Amino acid sequence: MSDRIAEHYESVAAGYDDQWDYDPEYVRGFAQAIVGALRLGGSDAIADIGCGTGLYTRRLCEEVRPERPVLCVDPVPAMLDQLPRVPGLRPLLAGAEDLASGRVGLPDGVPLDAIVLKESIHHLADRRATLQGLVGLLSRHGRLLVVMLPRTLHHPLFQDAHERFRELQPEPQEIVDVLAEAGLRTSVNHRTFHTTIDRERYVHLLESRYLSVLGEFSEDELQAGIAQFRHAYRDEPVIRFDDHFAFVTGWVRPR
Ligand SMILES: C[S@@+](CC[C@H](N)C(=O)[O-])C[C@H]1O[C@@H](n2cnc3c(N)ncnc32)[C@H](O)[C@@H]1O
Repeated sequence: MSDRIAEHYESVAAGYDDQWDYDPEYVRGFAQAIVGALRLGGSDAIADIGCGTGLYTRRLCEEVRPERPVLCVDPVPAMLDQLPRVPGLRPLLAGAEDLASGRVGLPDGVPLDAIVLKESIHHLADRRATLQGLVGLLSRHGRLLVVMLPRTLHHPLFQDAHERFRELQPEPQEIVDVLAEAGLRTSVNHRTFHTTIDRERYVHLLESRYLSVLGEFSEDELQAGIAQFRHAYRDEPVIRFDDHFAFVTGWVRPR
């Protein structure tokens, strides 16, 4: 992980959940979509890699009530510090690469039945090697879900942020190909979550650099972008947009 990304998440960690939980239905609906995509059940050994503060992991855990705690993996201490200390969630300070390479072992050495990577795939330096390593941690019932934004983002960002995002974000098809190469049966579903947010609250999200791509801009550039946003939405006190996600799933093939 680059220093810039580490610093970004260190600085947003304390306010991260406030940014997103203005709409508890959104978070709950999203967690349910993850549970459905992976067909999670109580006996599954589950890991959320790049779990951040565990905003979605908590909801997932409430839905599934797994027998074993969900392994919550993140390399940024400040993000992981926000994880509630409850028996259902087990924090592990590590990057996806550490688990994939075996530098960090799985607690108790138990293979994983389900791995979730929600909006962390773009942070992996070597996506192919890391995903291949993670596939090697799956049990014979194993499945892996990558939840990712498409390269064309529908959030009402300013122009330069859209362009920079497009440069940094991988294509879902790249992930499909890597998982297929690793031997998994793959599928992609596109999910849309409707978002409604007060314009001023959205300005606050922009100011707090709620997407890591906003960390790419200097304070002056960000303020210029926010002025652009304010002008474009000057007649809309409430903003509505569709948040599109690709759910890329890979399943271990029956032997
Ligand atoms: C956009 S946040 C998503 C957090 C959480 N999954 C969610 O949806 O709220 C991206 C997370 O990926 C983590 N991350 C960055 N580099 C990573 C890596 N190499 N391996 C695993 N996680 C990483 C960051 O620390 C951050 O918590």
